[in-house]
Amino acid sequence: MAGFVGAVDQGTTSTRFMIFDHGGNEVGRHQLEHQQILPQAGWVEHNPVEIWERTQTVIQTAMNARGLTASDLAALGITNQRETTVVWNRRTGRPYYNAIVWQDTRTDRIASALEREGKGDVIRRKAGLPPATYFSGGKIQWILENVDGVREAAERGEAVFGNTDTWLLWNLTGGVEGGVHVTDPTNASRTMLMNLETLDWDDELLSFFDIPRAMLPEIRPSSDPRSYGSTRQHGPFAGRVLITGDLGDQQAATVGQVCFAPGEAKNTYGTGNFMLLNTGTEIVRSKAGLLTTVCYKFGDDAPVYALEGSIAVTGSAVQWLRDQLKIISTAAQSEILARQVEDNGGVYFVPAFSGLFAPYWRSDARGAIVGLSRFNTDAHIARATLESICYQSRDVADAMEQDSGVHLECLKVDGGVTVNDLCMQMQADILGVPVSRPVVAETTALGAAYAAGLAVGFWKNTDELRENWNESRRWQPGWSPEQRENGYGRWKKAVQRTLDWVD
Ligand code: G3P
Repeated sequence: MAGFVGAVDQGTTSTRFMIFDHGGNEVGRHQLEHQQILPQAGWVEHNPVEIWERTQTVIQTAMNARGLTASDLAALGITNQRETTVVWNRRTGRPYYNAIVWQDTRTDRIASALEREGKGDVIRRKAGLPPATYFSGGKIQWILENVDGVREAAERGEAVFGNTDTWLLWNLTGGVEGGVHVTDPTNASRTMLMNLETLDWDDELLSFFDIPRAMLPEIRPSSDPRSYGSTRQHGPFAGRVLITGDLGDQQAATVGQVCFAPGEAKNTYGTGNFMLLNTGTEIVRSKAGLLTTVCYKFGDDAPVYALEGSIAVTGSAVQWLRDQLKIISTAAQSEILARQVEDNGGVYFVPAFSGLFAPYWRSDARGAIVGLSRFNTDAHIARATLESICYQSRDVADAMEQDSGVHLECLKVDGGVTVNDLCMQMQADILGVPVSRPVVAETTALGAAYAAGLAVGFWKNTDELRENWNESRRWQPGWSPEQRENGYGRWKKAVQRTLDWVD
């Protein structure tokens, strides 16, 4: 009996392969970064071929390090950076263009035209999303309009679209020799093309972007007992492994955090932050600037939905201190530097580098550091940067409460930034609720493994998964209510500056 489940986590900056046992404990991993291609201001691309090569290497390295073979894995799950768009030729296997990454803003004119032409409300109602550069629909349209030969090939069904889950699934299951062309509703719900009620591509939405239906993948459950297919014999596993789980990375983290009941929420701190609140089988339409998205669909069960607050720049603001301002040389130093001062010294930093996502959705916003005086040092800037991560999460948490009426009792957190103890303490202070981090911090890969393992009976049900969740650390709020609201009021003023900047 196979004792493990594997998960590929194809993220924005790196790809990792992880292996878990029945207790949800990590037993092996390998991870490799890929190149961030920045051809001009606002454009962000990845090379899909490089991502596929890295995927194969991380799988082989982790499996070999543990001396495991394909037959040791009961199933394989895939999770991925969402929205990032790949279009390739299914006959040659070659991409027509680099992957256009979720952060890329080149489609701003497409997004604003949708709003101008009155299509925005239809997209909100059917897809649960505001028209924005963030999602895949405009990125596919851009490739169809700007890369020679793609439209004709798409109409023939030869040029196909996928997010990176679909690209990897196609390659893992055989590529040009019969790879499957599938995705799941969590990924499809980030394209502006899927109807949240039918969980199918919607002809009216496709017509807004002039996208031929033939290029879109089949939408299958996120945890699929029928399996999408198996890895090919001569691929990175050197054998056949059933692929039965596929989820966008933020939904996967929600599953990894076992947020299976309505009202349960998690916040992942990566390059950006993504807070998801499980709303059960109910589609809650946001009035406060959140996204309505599919949280997961397990087999034939009804889909579970979520409200999501997506924040574009959080951990990447710390990288900016390191790479552009050069006031720290590692991300970990941000904590050491910020601890040199008692408080932010009046400084607020709004890192609106890609405009502002939730709850503002203003692609024209630009970053600002306000409140500076001669007294301030790099330590105040570092502190304001960490606070900006927490204040942006507060904006989103408030919007969630408004939309759902659910008051958070405790926030479950995960992701790279959660090793920053000061930042997590600030989060508890700024939200006024406890913040809790699990033992297994790799909740994204774990969630994909859970989806895959549930499909093959490796785990019996979600109750069994709940038993695997253990807290490693909890931060209690320390600020007084006055301190909290005073700080938050100043933050809102700082945000207003970034919105007023461009006429
Ligand atoms: O929506 C974008 C998100 O899925 C990216 O997550 O962790 O790869 O930065 P991450």
